[in-house]
Amino acid sequence: MTKIAAVDPTETAAWSKLHALAGTVGAGSIRSLIDADAARPATLSREAAGVGADFSRQRIDAAVVAALLELAAETGVLALRDAMLAGVHINTTEDRAVLHTALRLPRDATLVVDGVDVVAEVHDVLDRMAAFSTEVRSGAWTGATGERITDVVNIGIGGSDLGPAMAYVAMQHYRHPAITCHFVSNVDPADIGEVLAALDPATTLFIIASKTFTTLETMTNAAAARAWLVEALGDDAVARHFVAVSTNAAEVAGFGIDTSHMYGFWDWVGGRYSMDSAIGLSTMIAIGSDGFEQMLAGFHAMDEHFRTAPALENLPLLMGLLSVWNRDFLQVPTTAVLPYSQYLARFPAYLQQLTMESNGKSVRRDGSPVSCDTGGIYWGEPGTNGQHSFYQLLHQGTSTVACDLIVVARTPHGLGSQQDMLVANALAQAAVLSRGRTAEEVSADGTDAALVPHKVMPGNRPTTVFMIEELTPRTLGSLIALYEHSVFVQGAVWGINSFDQWGVELGKKVALSILADLEAGSATDATLDASTRADMERYLRLRRR
Ligand code: F6P
Repeated sequence: MTKIAAVDPTETAAWSKLHALAGTVGAGSIRSLIDADAARPATLSREAAGVGADFSRQRIDAAVVAALLELAAETGVLALRDAMLAGVHINTTEDRAVLHTALRLPRDATLVVDGVDVVAEVHDVLDRMAAFSTEVRSGAWTGATGERITDVVNIGIGGSDLGPAMAYVAMQHYRHPAITCHFVSNVDPADIGEVLAALDPATTLFIIASKTFTTLETMTNAAAARAWLVEALGDDAVARHFVAVSTNAAEVAGFGIDTSHMYGFWDWVGGRYSMDSAIGLSTMIAIGSDGFEQMLAGFHAMDEHFRTAPALENLPLLMGLLSVWNRDFLQVPTTAVLPYSQYLARFPAYLQQLTMESNGKSVRRDGSPVSCDTGGIYWGEPGTNGQHSFYQLLHQGTSTVACDLIVVARTPHGLGSQQDMLVANALAQAAVLSRGRTAEEVSADGTDAALVPHKVMPGNRPTTVFMIEELTPRTLGSLIALYEHSVFVQGAVWGINSFDQWGVELGKKVALSILADLEAGSATDATLDASTRADMERYLRLRRR
């Protein structure tokens, strides 16, 4: 294991300063901060790579921002950023570089890591993906019976599913009209079963997407898909209907996929940071190689901003630091991501993995326990649907939830008044979440005194409004890179390794022990506890009925 020292953030001078500020600015009201300073929205808004962010509804002032920047300096955030971008093995527990930013470097860039020019390798794979996706899109690539491909099924899970599935919905407006993509991830047989039931093997292409090519869910679903295809078209059809995206050529070949149709990536791309690698093959088939290139350009523009912008102007740096402020100093453990764009319906689900698999850690890079809260909880739903569901708790519940509202100004549908209605809702929510409504204001409406307490809105919910002119491949890339770097900044302050995920391993191992017993028909494994064995027996009884 390589070693990169991590400062305990709670021992820095900035941490003490921030604690004091939490008792003053942090305990104050967003409403009075806004009302006291007409210039606040301008002072606390930032723009980068087509994404605007208005932080004026956060419980902050210039002193808080300055102290957060001091915290970043004392914990070495920018030094770690530079180390990441240079290919230093900052994923210490796996001894790996962390180079998703290299996936979007332009063709003429050079980045030599561990003796290899990774940019040349990245563009080699991109070129092969472009050639293949162009053939699929044009109909030149046919299935075994000579018919064109009309349906693409991406089989993968976690980072090999969430990014491509999110991007497919987000880029619906740009996608090829004659090709439909489907995403199968769950090992629940209903997932693959329902997808296959509607498809014709002769016109279906499967992308088996797995970094390791050993993930139980993916390999099980891939085997089911293969059996379905072979039953209809025979063994020889596999080569025309299956391609793989993986870092594991041996396993791909073992599965029976021609490795000339394997699109590779590298151990320095984490699963949750991989949608812009070959894992995005379904995205490229959907929006074309030009569209994919634009998406990469959007990612790169945000990377460049993160790399070069001065600290006070650096959008991902400020966003990450504000998340630390909310999490550790204002005791706001959760953030609702609320896209006011139906195209971003899957964005919260995508962010759940990015944020929580990255920063849900309790030890620092050196293995010592953290002494502050880490990894915020991210979740959400598109507005305005959420308004008619869980916003009640956001407005009047006893837990404070930070809110990221994502507004897209222009819609390709040109329904002006409907779009204005959508945006009016977003801005109304931002105002109400942050300002609330006092008892005096409620009473002033002539509300019955008994009802007044029920209608008071505490407000003061830390709220950020992000605004994008139009959701294009380019701005989608920028938006994702913004969140990636914000997650990086938070992890860097906390001194944790945001790029491993040891916490997901034990459950996989235990599932294998349980599965062996379930297949044998009795719960005999003495290493399993009594509660687990009782549930297994109950399941076996129900299954037999
Ligand atoms: O179990 C978690 C995880 O390892 C994720 O980090 C990853 O994105 C997912 O599983 C899928 O892994 P693979 O691409 O190797 O199938």
